[in-house]
Amino acid sequence: MIELVCATANPHKVEEIAAVLSDAVVLLPRPVDLGDIVEDAPDLTGNALLKARAVCAHTDKAALADDTGLEVDVLNGAPGVLSSRYAGPNASYADNTAKLLQELADLDNRAARFRTVMAVVYPDGTEILAEGVVEGQITTSVRGNAGFGYDPVFVPAEGDGRTFAEMTLEEKNQLSHRTRSLHTLLAKLSHDPARTQTW
Ligand code: IMP
Repeated sequence: MIELVCATANPHKVEEIAAVLSDAVVLLPRPVDLGDIVEDAPDLTGNALLKARAVCAHTDKAALADDTGLEVDVLNGAPGVLSSRYAGPNASYADNTAKLLQELADLDNRAARFRTVMAVVYPDGTEILAEGVVEGQITTSVRGNAGFGYDPVFVPAEGDGRTFAEMTLEEKNQLSHRTRSLHTLLAKLSHDPARTQTW
């Protein structure tokens, strides 16, 4: 089976990624001696690549990184690439969701989407990218305790009206941006003979 070092240390993301990839990929944990990687690229693709490149350079192994943003139509795509810092440099998940609900107060158009860009970078310099998107609506108040980030304020269009934070991990993973990006990534990896020989 293929081995990938997971660039994220966020336990929620690792759990979601591992649940989707478990049959196809051995995920190695992010090295503990690797410091913070400054995510200063202008877009999700740039941030995913800089994280995967840094982990690949540090470990000399193939590395997997994701970068995700919540895009709200009426905010012209914000918070987008700045999703983790929407309410300020050290904002908590609760700070960010509170700011979002405040920005959308009294607005009828609550359309939004999560977008994930997954990147795999190999020691030989090969880079593979895959994107996943889930459309939905922003709620008017927080609902649910599962998941992380903006999950308590996001209702996926293809769901049953619950927020991601009101779903089990398995239910979120059936619909999520992250799962979709991973399925596209796996399809790309399986079409690349140089990358499948270890499967
Ligand atoms: P990151 O830069 O990919 O870590 O993600 C930026 C921010 O987006 C995070 O701090 C979370 O607030 C949010 N985020 C990322 N993925 C998800 C998700 O699956 N659900 C809810 N929020 C997410």
